[in-house]
Amino acid sequence: MRFLTAGESHGPALTAIIEGFPAGITISSKEINRELARRQKVAGRGERSRIIEADKIEILSGVRGGLTLGSPIALKITNRDWVNWQDYLALEGPLRSGRQVIAPRPGHADLAGGQKYGFQALRNVLERASARTTATRVAVGTLARQFLTQLGVAVAGYVASIGTVHVPTEGANKLTLQELRKAVSASPVLTPCTEAEKAMLAAIEAAREKGDSLGGTFVIHAAGLPPGLGSYVEWDRRLDGRLGQALLSIPSVKGVVVGDGFAGTTQLGSSTHDAIFYSAERGFYRSSNHAGGLEGGITNGETLVLTAAVKPIPTLLKNPLPSVNIKTKEAVPAAVERSDTCAVPAACVVGEAAVAWELAQAVLEKLGGDTLEEIKTAWNRYSDQLRTWPE
Ligand SMILES: Cc1cc2nc3c(=O)[nH]c(=O)nc-3n(C[C@H](O)[C@H](O)[C@H](O)COP(=O)(O)O)c2cc1C
Repeated sequence: MRFLTAGESHGPALTAIIEGFPAGITISSKEINRELARRQKVAGRGERSRIIEADKIEILSGVRGGLTLGSPIALKITNRDWVNWQDYLALEGPLRSGRQVIAPRPGHADLAGGQKYGFQALRNVLERASARTTATRVAVGTLARQFLTQLGVAVAGYVASIGTVHVPTEGANKLTLQELRKAVSASPVLTPCTEAEKAMLAAIEAAREKGDSLGGTFVIHAAGLPPGLGSYVEWDRRLDGRLGQALLSIPSVKGVVVGDGFAGTTQLGSSTHDAIFYSAERGFYRSSNHAGGLEGGITNGETLVLTAAVKPIPTLLKNPLPSVNIKTKEAVPAAVERSDTCAVPAACVVGEAAVAWELAQAVLEKLGGDTLEEIKTAWNRYSDQLRTWPE
């Protein structure tokens, strides 16, 4: 299973093609639209996502009567902003002058991207490097999530910190995924803690008034996973590494932690590993989950817990950092584009989708199958095998 995306921030549309997606999976474009709206409507977003982005998915192929066909699924999200940009970014013919970016923004791909491709027009870089493309990742990941749901696997994320405001994660980590999703769905910052929510919203507002930006962290959980997804046998098959790549490839994500991660490094081994227990009812289980559901690059049957660090938004609206006019070499303030104040809640929605995709891949690799029926049969057989193992 694989996918490719294309499209630019202010271009005509964002697109994706998914190939290898199994047949017989019930797909709801309503659910995809709901996730697209979550990405756009959470706190921290700027004027563009509130007013101009109102993303709607168009499924162009690979689905009939609400069921996937096994053939490539083509997705399209029309950019409603294209009408305001078509003369400046025309795909063919002369371009209207204006809206140029001359002073690369620190923290963006502007400078290094221009150097890499030899562009004078830095807009060519930022149009593609922009996180606008994460809308397609949300759409693709939501399809994967619909597949996982039909196997009883759930994925849910929450915002654990914004700036210096932290949610007590021990409390959040004790919630079931259903409870977590419910608590988070009522929160504009996607956090299960109402006290922290107030402080987070105040911090975002204070940064917005100053024209500054904020970062933070989000946590993704996945439950219902059997042990044995991923592999310990070769470096590029380890699921921890692949989930890390999936999350690190979201623009502005600068770190990924599995389970206790860095916090575990200050503990003794005796207090940071999860002792193994057995009961006839539960089979093998752990009473703690410091490992975050992954040992040796494979799932161990416990809830997956991944934390991602999101840097503050690079575009600074009121006091841009020093930069250089790439033509005259004069010192000038960095370019300013319409911008968000804090990407953490939106990135959390993207993170859920990215993790769902990677987990769906891992399920297919373990169990194979062209259709949901075949996958379910293999899933049940594997569950039986786990119950009687090692007999
Ligand atoms: C959902 C989302 C929205 C973002 N919105 C903005 C934005 O409005 N302005 C901005 O400068 N950066 C924004 N970013 C961050 C940049 O896209 C990102 O920092 C930049 O592309 C450089 O990539 P890097 O941070 O991974 O190095 C956003 C990121 C995400 C995930």
